[in-house]
Amino acid sequence: MAQNPEAAKRVLGVYGAGQVEPGMVLGIGSGTTVDAFIDALGERLRHAPFSLVCVAASEASVARARAAGVPVQAPESLGVLDLAVDGADQVNPERVMIKGGGAALVRERLVMSQARRALILVDSTKLVPRMEQVTVPLAILPFAWPATLARIQEVTPEAYLRQVDGHPVMTDDGLYLVDAHVDDLPNPEDWHAAVKMLPGVVDTGIFAGFPAEVVVSDGEAVWPLEPCQA
Ligand code: A5P
Repeated sequence: MAQNPEAAKRVLGVYGAGQVEPGMVLGIGSGTTVDAFIDALGERLRHAPFSLVCVAASEASVARARAAGVPVQAPESLGVLDLAVDGADQVNPERVMIKGGGAALVRERLVMSQARRALILVDSTKLVPRMEQVTVPLAILPFAWPATLARIQEVTPEAYLRQVDGHPVMTDDGLYLVDAHVDDLPNPEDWHAAVKMLPGVVDTGIFAGFPAEVVVSDGEAVWPLEPCQA
């Protein structure tokens, strides 16, 4: 199968924008695929404006949306979302996802949890038959972070604080990130439950149990992920 991730993001962005209906309350995730969705939605609104209420899961998405002419408001004023659109780093055949490569996992889970319908847009390179040799991002509190990291390493030894130029990467909520490298994750939900309960851990990048529709593109075609396709 030919794979062109950059073209796939554009194709998926247009597909996602086509799923938005006038009057919807929309949740917008984060990442480069979501950027393509925002741009396509902005383009659609420019040609045929309609009313829309949106919240976004990262400050980067808020800025991108506003620049594209997509209205965004504070999430505190919103209840249930009609639709949430997001990306993912990896998806297995059971639609368990790894998210958080872009550091927005905590807000992304909140947005997805508020949504009646969740649409996950992924290029075909993100599909994996099983979760092996994976990196799962974790959000942790900065307070006493070395102790939290040591607890995580008792579960998954290859776990490291995410840093750029020697400084910890900080999320929009002032959290630090840990990237946990796992050889084999046969039960991602169990791993998520075990790590999330550790003191200092706010969330993990394992997203399971969402009634999410996963839509895939190779840069040309767009198709829904069926359980046997990954
Ligand atoms: C952001 O924290 C992530 O969960 C993104 O949704 C995920 O990393 C996918 O990002 P890309 O669309 O940039 O690949």
